[in-house]
Amino acid sequence: MTTSHELVLTCPKGLESLLREEAQGLGLEETREQTAAVRGLGDLAVAYRLCLWSRLANRVLLVLARFPVSDAQALYDGVKAVDWSDHLAADGTLAVEFSGRGAGIDNTHFGALKVKDAIVDRLRRPDGTRPGIDKLNPDVRVHLRLDKGQAVLSLDLSGHSLHQRGYRLQQGAAPLKENLAAAILMRAGWPRIAAEGGALTDPMCGVGTFLVEGALMAADIAPNLRRERWGFSAWLGHVPAIWTRLLDEARARAAAGLARPPLWIRGYEADPRLIQPARNNIERAGLAEWVKIYQGEVATFAPRPDQSQKGLVICNPPYGERLGDEASLLYLYQSLGERLRQCCEGWEAGIFTATPELGKRMGIRSYKQYALWNGALPCKLLLMHVQPDQFVVAQQPAASAASGEGAEQVRLSEGGQMFANRLQKNLKQLGKWARREGIECYRLYDATCLNMRWPSTSIVIGCTCRNTHRRVRSTRRRRRRGCSMRWPQFRRRCSCRASGWWSSAASGRAALASTNVRLAKGSFSRWPREA
Ligand SMILES: C[S@@+](CC[C@H](N)C(=O)[O-])C[C@H]1O[C@@H](n2cnc3c(N)ncnc32)[C@H](O)[C@@H]1O
Repeated sequence: MTTSHELVLTCPKGLESLLREEAQGLGLEETREQTAAVRGLGDLAVAYRLCLWSRLANRVLLVLARFPVSDAQALYDGVKAVDWSDHLAADGTLAVEFSGRGAGIDNTHFGALKVKDAIVDRLRRPDGTRPGIDKLNPDVRVHLRLDKGQAVLSLDLSGHSLHQRGYRLQQGAAPLKENLAAAILMRAGWPRIAAEGGALTDPMCGVGTFLVEGALMAADIAPNLRRERWGFSAWLGHVPAIWTRLLDEARARAAAGLARPPLWIRGYEADPRLIQPARNNIERAGLAEWVKIYQGEVATFAPRPDQSQKGLVICNPPYGERLGDEASLLYLYQSLGERLRQCCEGWEAGIFTATPELGKRMGIRSYKQYALWNGALPCKLLLMHVQPDQFVVAQQPAASAASGEGAEQVRLSEGGQMFANRLQKNLKQLGKWARREGIECYRLYDATCLNMRWPSTSIVIGCTCRNTHRRVRSTRRRRRRGCSMRWPQFRRRCSCRASGWWSSAASGRAALASTNVRLAKGSFSRWPREA
């Protein structure tokens, strides 16, 4: 007869419901969600299967005891009451992890010390033999969680956190944890798309985490198949026969999965320094046949899988806090949106971002959003159907006759068009006010750029004297229109050298880049044509 154990699976915050579903599929019963954890009942085979197959959990804890703690002595007594000889030899090694606080134990180091003392005292032999401490590779890793006066004492069967699959030995600047990447793929529908033979691509793939996790799922490979050391490897309760059976099953499934024709899985990354590390990770995961990485800019992203199949575009663009600045991020999101609309019609997209407001600048409506945490950073996963009826693209403005400059009708890029529309709108509103107030020279700011908390480099468009300016050099004619300045003074004040628009902030170049407007010697005279 198999013994049922209480098991607690820990996970990143926000993944609880997904983990619960996964754990049920792997045999966990009577499941319940907690914050950043799922608990339930299962025998040893279930516990091992969770270690091997969970793509989402951080740890699999086997609960040994739950008891009330009123003070440090009660903690010591509760831990000592467990028969530790079932788990650890007197000359074995242990590590203790303590979390939570209360009942006079407000220091996790002190709490861990009490737990360790209780275990060591319970196992100490008359000849003085006693377990030692090994924080890196102990025979057993003991976990104690203290919460509201209740202690939960467990053995950590996973050992190192399960997100460390072992393939990602080389990292970029801001890699996603493997289990978070797997959760994002699941939320974005990748298991279904993969089952239908769809493609997967990441236009900003870093060291390829999404792609490896996606390929592992598609090829039915257990995420921790390559891990050699587990929390239970030297545990006295370990039953090698059960483990070996599960391992053999998983190896057979992986072999069958890899024998199938690979799906089209491709990643692109702008930073040339990340290409080889990404390829090394893929090689280590045994997926070199499945996943290909190329150097590429998002601005040229155009996935072309075989037989024009569709699939999933998955991506987590750089975060403002760690990589890139805000103006270039805006440009990046706009470019990504533009590429999706132009080259990925019929695909699904999942954009994982810490700045969801920038996601709106992609010009595609999201049909679903999930709140997730990337460590301490609150993030959102935006899911999109890349279909024309989901596109949110700015209207073409009425003929630029409004400017009265006889400006040449040009076809703008989408970014340029959006920027032009915003300015037209501001001009319309401010123009009325300025005329009412008798103001003839004023500057237009693109509020979007100011909202980006980027004041020193905001775009400043000098929109000078609709009536008086227009390069009217004649002071007499300007006077007639209500402008008393003489030309040199007028010119100095307005700094206007171009006919119509100019930018005074050379430092606004980066922001202007997001609109495709080019500055030439600090000024420009017309919107650029579509390349
Ligand atoms: C947050 S990281 C993605 C990390 C990746 N998911 C991983 O786990 O390794 C964002 C990546 O986008 C890349 N990137 C930034 N700008 C890019 C661009 N214009 N085109 C392509 N990739 C870009 C960065 O070099 C970085 O590797």
